[in-house]
Amino acid sequence: MTRRFTLIGAAALALLPAGAFAQANELVLYCTVGEEWCRAQSEAFTRETGIKVLMTRKSSGETFAQIKAEAAQPRGDVWWGGTGDPHLQAAQEGLTEEYRSPMLTELQPWAVAQAETSGYRTVGIYAGALGYGYNSTRVTENPPSCWKDLLDPRFKDEIQVANPNSSGTAYTMLATLVQLMGEDEAFAYLKALHANVSQYTKSGSAPIRAAATGETTIGIVFMHDAVAQAVEGAPIVTVAPCEGTGYEVGSMSLIKGGPNPEAARIWYDWALTAKAQEIGATAKSFQVPSNVNAATPPEAPKLADIKLIDYDFAKYGSSEVRTALLARWDAEIGALPK
Ligand code: G6P
Repeated sequence: MTRRFTLIGAAALALLPAGAFAQANELVLYCTVGEEWCRAQSEAFTRETGIKVLMTRKSSGETFAQIKAEAAQPRGDVWWGGTGDPHLQAAQEGLTEEYRSPMLTELQPWAVAQAETSGYRTVGIYAGALGYGYNSTRVTENPPSCWKDLLDPRFKDEIQVANPNSSGTAYTMLATLVQLMGEDEAFAYLKALHANVSQYTKSGSAPIRAAATGETTIGIVFMHDAVAQAVEGAPIVTVAPCEGTGYEVGSMSLIKGGPNPEAARIWYDWALTAKAQEIGATAKSFQVPSNVNAATPPEAPKLADIKLIDYDFAKYGSSEVRTALLARWDAEIGALPK
């Protein structure tokens, strides 16, 4: 109790209904970052607050679909992590709760923009740029450096990328290509790329784990996921595509009607603190944290050095656009024979 008191402060405590702490002893967390970080974050929260965390890890699109399917009887309290677009769609569809955390004042402008776009139903917790990684024992000459290089026939069946329905990483790629090339050109590119794709995985980071072990040559992922493999000693080279690339604002939302709303807000405020955001790097997650006072891990790809597009989160996180792009992907790419 004492630790909880110092954590959220007397002012915040006064706002909580009487008996809130008696109820705030459990939290159901839908976690959408890497498994290791999900565990480290949950354990740290329990250590600091005494609140037990029931955590499950799924990909961004899968979690969105689960929250939507459970809307009549919500089971989760907090959706923490994962790309921002499906969090924005959940906000638009009324699946998540409006909340203005007192911690918003400590956040980077891109994290606050995510809150503003959603009517304060979601918020940015980290950022990371999209790219790819290749296994340098399998590519010894003419290393790829652009999106167009991935169409080279020498990479036939040597590329893995996730399915954008389940994975936020892959949806970020789809939306990025549409913004870089225009929609029809982007689908023409994805059709050509299909010849080189051996597998569309469920999780966004699986392709780079496969490249690290040599099961495939190239994995299209967030650059920090490729860096994490290299830090572990895998022969992975990280690429920021020469044409420019998109990025994610990894996000967090409170699930509307979840069973433990008090515990959910305690998590939410805590997860926006600098100290809580520094846990990522200890679990080999090298995103840029959203709290301005949190140390950015030295391994994190430097966003200022990457040619980033002006990703339109409001548009590509809208229900209409995301639903339509995924339907077109299913019809034109997912349905292609292998
Ligand atoms: C990895 C990345 C995160 C990203 C997440 C999305 O964990 O490190 O930055 O938000 O993937 O996962 P998904 O499986 O939905 O692509």
